[in-house]
Amino acid sequence: MNTTTIRLAEDPDLDTLCDLYYEFHEFHAQHLPNYLRTLDYSSAKEREKLRYKIKDSIQGNDSTILVGDCSGRIIGFAELYLKRPDPTNHAVVPKQYVHLQSLSVTEDFRREGVGNQLLQAAEAWARHRGAVELRLDIWEFSAGPLGFYEKSGYHTFRRTLAKNL
Ligand SMILES: CC(C)(COP(=O)(O)OP(=O)(O)OC[C@H]1O[C@@H](n2cnc3c(N)ncnc32)[C@H](O)[C@@H]1OP(=O)(O)O)[C@@H](O)C(=O)NCCC(=O)NCCS
Repeated sequence: MNTTTIRLAEDPDLDTLCDLYYEFHEFHAQHLPNYLRTLDYSSAKEREKLRYKIKDSIQGNDSTILVGDCSGRIIGFAELYLKRPDPTNHAVVPKQYVHLQSLSVTEDFRREGVGNQLLQAAEAWARHRGAVELRLDIWEFSAGPLGFYEKSGYHTFRRTLAKNL
C-alpha cells in the first residue's frame, strides 16, 4: 500500500536528495550514452556543489523542491521554478508558468502512484503561484517518461530535432 505524503523539502533532506539526483542522472546517462555522461559520485567536491544547488532551490522565492516521504524515507522529488512573463518581449504571448526541472521516484517505489502524487502537488504549487501552465522537457527513449506525462494530460508543443551526420 502506498502511504507516501508529499511535503516541501527541508535542509535535513539534502543528503538523500543528492543521492536521488545522482540516481535520476544515472537513469538518463545509461539510456542516453551519446548525450550524457556518468558522474563521479565519489567526488566530495561535486557532491558539495550539488548540495548548494539543491539548497538554493529549496530556499529560493520562486523555486521549490517537493519530496515524497514514505514513513520518514524520501523516495522521490520534484524540482520547480516559477517563470514570470517578460514584459519587454513583445514577440511572445506573456504567460506565467512553472518549469518542472526534474521529477523522479527511486526505482523500488515506481509504479505505485508516487510520481502522480508529486505531479499533482507540483501542479497545485504552480496554480497557487498564479501559473497558467506547468512545462517540462523530457528525453525520448523507450523506458522514458513520455507515457507517464501523456497519461497525466501533457502534450508536446515544441521539439528538439537531430540528425546524425
Ligand atoms: C517517470 C516517473 C517519475 C513515474 O513515477 P511513478 O511513481 O512510477 O509513476 P506512477 O506510479 O504515479 O504512474 C502514474 C501512471 O503513469 C503510468 N506510468 C508510469 N511510468 C510510466 C512510463 N515510463 N511510461 C508509461 N506510463 C507510465 C503508470 O502505469 C500509471 O498509470 P495508471 O494511472 O493507468 O495506473 C518514474 O518512473 C521515474 O522516476 N523515472 C525515472 C526518472 C524520469 O524519467 N523522470 C521524468 C523525467 S523529468
